[in-house]
Amino acid sequence: MDKNRLLDALAQVLENYRRCGVSQVARGSLPESAQLALERLASLSPAELSPAENASPADYSASAEGIVRGPSAESSIRAQVTADAVASGSFAAAAQQTANEQPGKWTLPVLEIAERVQQMEGLDRQIRDCRRCENIVQFRQRTVFGEGKLEPKICFMGEAPGADEDRQGRPFVGKAGQLLTKIIAAMKLTREEVYILNALKCRPPQNRTPVPEEIENCRNFVESQLEVLKPQFIVCLGAVAVRSILQSNLSIGRLRGRFHNYRGARVVVTYHPSYLLRNESAKRLVWEDMKMLMREAGLD
Ligand code: URA
Repeated sequence: MDKNRLLDALAQVLENYRRCGVSQVARGSLPESAQLALERLASLSPAELSPAENASPADYSASAEGIVRGPSAESSIRAQVTADAVASGSFAAAAQQTANEQPGKWTLPVLEIAERVQQMEGLDRQIRDCRRCENIVQFRQRTVFGEGKLEPKICFMGEAPGADEDRQGRPFVGKAGQLLTKIIAAMKLTREEVYILNALKCRPPQNRTPVPEEIENCRNFVESQLEVLKPQFIVCLGAVAVRSILQSNLSIGRLRGRFHNYRGARVVVTYHPSYLLRNESAKRLVWEDMKMLMREAGLD
């Protein structure tokens, strides 16, 4: 049994609904694994509940009609699962499945190359005109759209442009970029064979970490780019990329080492190259993640 996986799984499902503004969900619409989790919680006797929570199974949102969510339900679920409520192996397997789920498929049809070029040019223009992040836009020199193959098997997604990228208008061309280029080369690929983009298209001043609102402001652009590209695999480099497309606040350590889903793509989560520049020992973990990707992508 892996309780942490289960906790993450439930939290992620709930977070996804919350972010979509959904406060009530018909049980039948939940992913099967989440339904299993809720059924298990609903079947608990009061004696099995954590005394601190002092809640009834109904509070765990498992009524016949639907689940009713709110902060208290979420914390109840977290507390309850921690309180040893979930013991069976099949439940752990279900949790693993839930942690990897991000509902949905690509929404646009597959586009020919010429159409992709046209769509990307349109998006690029929109991004250059965008003024949504008032604390960033006044400092930017260039927007950084992204670059690479327009029919990529793999997309690498970073955080935001740094000073070099802001000057050149290209992603990952500074120190972290050089390391990313080496990682790509170690996978026996070139930058031209993949697509490289960022969660933010403008450089936050002093390279500060983007705030959630800024990630949100740029997310439509990212989603549109990915819809056009339709990669089979997306590598999230660091927590901001994770937040942008998986909409999760979980740590890289929690999320790496397995595949997640984003619409039609399988997502690998790993550490950002800038982190590797400061933490040499994490390079081994990133290489493990890339080997996992290479095996699945038929690149090994
Ligand atoms: N870091 C990023 O996340 N993206 C870049 O383009 C450069 C550095």
